[in-house]
Amino acid sequence: MAGREHAGESRDLEINPIFSREPIRVPRFALPDGEMEPGTAYQVVHDELMLDGNARQNLATFVATWAEPQARELMAECAEKNMIDKDEYPQTAELEQRCVRMLARLWHAEDSRHAMGCSTTGSSEAAMLGGLALKRRWRERRRGEGKSTDRPNLVMGINVQICWEKFADYFEVEPRYVPMEGDRFHLTPDKAVELCDENTIGVVAVLGSTFDGSYEPVADICAALDDLCARTSLDIPVHVDGASGAMIAPFLDPDLEWDFRLPRVASINTSGHKYGLVMPGVGWALWRDGDALPDDLVFHVNYLGGDMPTFALNFSRPGAQVVAQYYNFLRLGFEGYRRVQQTCRDVAKRLAAEIAALGPFDLVTDGSEAPVFAFRTREGITDFTVFDVSAALRERGWLVPAYTFPKNRTDLAVLRIVVRNGFSHDLADLLLDDLRRVLPRLSRQGKPHRDADDLGGFAHGAETKNPRRPGRH
Ligand SMILES: Cc1ncc(COP(=O)(O)O)c(C=O)c1O
Repeated sequence: MAGREHAGESRDLEINPIFSREPIRVPRFALPDGEMEPGTAYQVVHDELMLDGNARQNLATFVATWAEPQARELMAECAEKNMIDKDEYPQTAELEQRCVRMLARLWHAEDSRHAMGCSTTGSSEAAMLGGLALKRRWRERRRGEGKSTDRPNLVMGINVQICWEKFADYFEVEPRYVPMEGDRFHLTPDKAVELCDENTIGVVAVLGSTFDGSYEPVADICAALDDLCARTSLDIPVHVDGASGAMIAPFLDPDLEWDFRLPRVASINTSGHKYGLVMPGVGWALWRDGDALPDDLVFHVNYLGGDMPTFALNFSRPGAQVVAQYYNFLRLGFEGYRRVQQTCRDVAKRLAAEIAALGPFDLVTDGSEAPVFAFRTREGITDFTVFDVSAALRERGWLVPAYTFPKNRTDLAVLRIVVRNGFSHDLADLLLDDLRRVLPRLSRQGKPHRDADDLGGFAHGAETKNPRRPGRH
């Protein structure tokens, strides 16, 4: 987004003299008057991008940073395909449908042939769609009962990713956040039920909390809502935000009931580009059946002369990521995904245990749910903060976010590590070596050098991006 001040505001872009075509000067913020050689333009852009962090060392993101060459090749082959052109690219549309059916089976939909679902740009768009379906269902029910539809609300833990804050803001639903309390860092059944009333469109349960990787107790939340329904006739559906966990739990925790096995779960989202193992740009939203997705939200496009229902915020969207998702499903199968996710969990658990053994840190989570863990400085550590640790690790290129927790644990500051496919035991050892190397220096600091304001959050959604809005802090 424009609007940021730049140090080089008054300077044009300059081309390295090694090129034979200069001297040329290129405006930085204005469209150049004329053309330039593609090789020159490439080099200018390429050189500037060298300053981006190294994606493989980015332990902040949940999003895939590694893909097989064949997946990259397929993505390059499909770069020009627009997902919305179902009639023009019918096989891409067919692969999308196959992915939806595979996910519906994986998440135990009663009848995968009739499960409703679509690809999206990521979990954020999928969350908007899930939330919209909840709102529309609630509104229709209330209208049918002749009751007011002015004040919808959505109940969730304060640990939800900012996409839910956005949903509530953009689609005018009151967000009801359950704050953190003591060692409770996510939503619990009793707290969820406490905030529900006749205007509650749904409860969001997160499988793989952005703050610490923990799973919220979806089955218990559903049971508490079943009980509420029996007592009061408030019948409140659940949407599971499985951005990470919906592609972990089916493979590593098959006995955990969190999905369509629970009748109260109306819809689920996941990020194909997180533990679905696709490069950025794909998510998935599924509804248990046609009842959960009101038909008047669905648009119809032409598809091979027939009719293809679509539900999306975007019109045009790249098809390449959907193709890569299908490639991954085909290539890895259940057993392949299980092995990849198990390795991530093994690396996360070992790394967490080794960090705990270093001395100055306490684990908040240990990587045994989503392969993500958070850790804090131990009581009595006064020479440095988690923000100092994050900055020190950056010296060697490691991007490990540090951030404070939300209400009522704003006193708690943590570091978080997301272990993804491609972050091997070996890389974890290199990170550990660097952490061991910086700790003596940090301990000699005598006092902290950095706090939360110095790092300016790169917590990947574990923060509010809009502090002007009340509620989350
Ligand atoms: C629990 C959760 N929900 C939603 C999102 C947003 O996902 P996306 O980046 O795919 O839009 C994230 C991203 O980290 C997440 O962790």
